Amino acid sequence: MTSGLPFCELHLHIEGTLEPETIFALAAEQGRTLRDAGPEELAARYDFADLPDFLELYYENMGVLRSERDFEVLAEAYFARAHRAGVAHVELFVDPQAHTERGVAERTVLAGLQRAIEAAGDRHGISAGIIACVLRDRPVDDAERMLDAVLDAAAETGAPLLGIGLDSAELGFPPHRFAGVFDRAAEAGLHRVAHAGEEGPADYVRQALDVLGAERIDHGIRVLDDAELVARLVRERISLTVCPLSNVRLRVVDRIEELPFRALLDAGLLVTVNSDDPAYFGGYLDDNVAAVRGAFGLGEDDLARLARNSVEASFAPEARKRELL
Ligand code: ADE
Ligand code: ZN
Repeated sequence: MTSGLPFCELHLHIEGTLEPETIFALAAEQGRTLRDAGPEELAARYDFADLPDFLELYYENMGVLRSERDFEVLAEAYFARAHRAGVAHVELFVDPQAHTERGVAERTVLAGLQRAIEAAGDRHGISAGIIACVLRDRPVDDAERMLDAVLDAAAETGAPLLGIGLDSAELGFPPHRFAGVFDRAAEAGLHRVAHAGEEGPADYVRQALDVLGAERIDHGIRVLDDAELVARLVRERISLTVCPLSNVRLRVVDRIEELPFRALLDAGLLVTVNSDDPAYFGGYLDDNVAAVRGAFGLGEDDLARLARNSVEASFAPEARKRELL
């Protein structure tokens, strides 16, 4: 458990919850042989030089996700684990383009997630929504097509599509390229978030705000390089969804103590703690909270602030927020 307080998880890639054992179980069901002999051998390769190095294996591994049932089982396992971690509300990322390029339709993905989300409400009392992410290292017209397809798939399946996001390799892929897609998403009533300032500079954060209209910044740990930007984020109550174990495993920092976590809190930023890709980075939400608690000597008041921040920064309906606060 995190602290007994209900937390919202706002930066979680559902494909990043695909555990090595599940990869092998799904491959066996499909009669496929994988490169590694077993889950331990695969997990031994989870030693990443940087974000692009991680993404290569992440996209390869998700090749075992093919049917609606595969997505349902994946998300069900995550919700069960998140419940044990003290998570009450989740806004999960999904990468539709990484599935359609393998012939798996948006409808299949969203229908599977929708079933798991419904079950999570019944079994665990967890509320959840979906944020479909644009892969920023792919062509803009592919993102345009993805947006139309997920809007249709959500209407057909009833999946709770909350927003559009921006993820994948950051350096060299500035946010402004996707201004048109994000404008159309907003017109369709979707929330907007973007990964920025993970490996890329503070200027990418500024672009995400100015050009994409981002309401939350995923990671954003580079913002302290820009005092004016920090002041704006504080003033506008724009949250940073920080993922401490991810930052260590992707070598954004060498040790967790090097993260500017205290400085972000002391600056008055709406910091939240999240797990990003927990099957790859060594822990779920409770593990991330425990890691920052230990590294930065957080007390009960700090944990309560992080829990409250996560509720405030969520896109949950106001009535649900009141329940969680
Ligand atoms: N996709 C999955 N995890 C990611 C991360 N940490 N940054 C960017 N894209 C991602
Ligand atoms: Zn992420």
